[in-house]
Amino acid sequence: MTGFNRRTVLLGAAAAAACARPAVYSQAAEQSLQELATAKGVDYGSMVTWKSWDGDNAINREDAFVQLVQRECSIITSGMEMFWSLNSQRAGAMDFAGGDDIVDWAQKHGKKVRGHTLVWHEQTPKWFRGIGDKAFGEKMLVERVSNMCSRFAGRMHSWDVVNEVLTSEGDRPDGLRDSKYLQLLGPGYLDTAFQAARAADPKALLVINDYNLEYNVDHNERKRQAMLGVIDGFKQRNTPVDAVGIQSHLWMERRDTFDQTVFANFLKEISDRGLQIMLTEMDVIDVGAPSDPAARDAEVASMYKDYLDVALANPAVKTVVTWGLSDRDSWITHYNMDDFRRPDGLPPRPLPFDADLKPKPAYFAIAEAFKAAPGR
Ligand code: XIL
Repeated sequence: MTGFNRRTVLLGAAAAAACARPAVYSQAAEQSLQELATAKGVDYGSMVTWKSWDGDNAINREDAFVQLVQRECSIITSGMEMFWSLNSQRAGAMDFAGGDDIVDWAQKHGKKVRGHTLVWHEQTPKWFRGIGDKAFGEKMLVERVSNMCSRFAGRMHSWDVVNEVLTSEGDRPDGLRDSKYLQLLGPGYLDTAFQAARAADPKALLVINDYNLEYNVDHNERKRQAMLGVIDGFKQRNTPVDAVGIQSHLWMERRDTFDQTVFANFLKEISDRGLQIMLTEMDVIDVGAPSDPAARDAEVASMYKDYLDVALANPAVKTVVTWGLSDRDSWITHYNMDDFRRPDGLPPRPLPFDADLKPKPAYFAIAEAFKAAPGR
């Protein structure tokens, strides 16, 4: 379908929806997203950082952004401060300061907090990448996980124990990404990390987090199967795992390949295995949507709604986190990825609030989805 045709269809659908239910996605925000979500047994929140990094999701001060976090979020995710490469300059060294700041703030303000992330190939310290000795590597990995988890034990909602360990490329039947961890330690590094996390903090939910699990295309299907395979392996070996994190970076350009049944079935495969599901990094990459902000916002909003409707129909989905709140601060702007750049050069509009922190149709679409969701 061409962009023109697709837009025409969407406008028609929007008009029809407007007749049936006026003012969808544009009602006054009487209740915050966290209120609407918690009424259904769901936590809603955002990624935040302590200081400003690339983009400004900082909560180390009193300003309009922080007020928004206060109002809208029952949960926050640490965006940068807990990355291994950013808090460990030498073998075994560990700087907890940024993590302390975020977790202290969360506790002070009554927010749940998600740790992101203990093990991620993109944030592996240089010294770890240089290790050749397997036993030493394993010791360092266990130390990393144990130290972080015991530091914050009892105060964390959940940990992304491992992030993006799957791949749709390569020819390993288990679909594991060819990372330093896999090369040095073999596939057992996953079990090692989850066991160390549970031992150090028995309360935090332990999450395996990944992307490209959302669409009905071959490479996403391979990752879905790999995810279920890893979970089944964990179950067989009694490795503790509590939830699957589905990053939920949605792509306007992939819209036609979102299949509600395929996605719902995947969620059911996870919940049938007794695991929770968290939507951990939600936003909409709006390449392929029109330049006009109003038209673009309408398409982005309907993507949020369509996706959340399917996800929230499964009561195992208890956590929804967007990767930021405001278009001013999205990683999509700062992450140097060609696929994220709009051909018209305009800044992306991926999040519930615009660059001036005003709620967009996406905000109201999320609100509608929470309102429509069954309780859990
Ligand atoms: C991004 C951060 O938001 C950026 O600020 C940073 O430069 C790179 O990482 N998947 C993840 C997140 O798991 O950690 C990424 O966040 C976005 C993609």
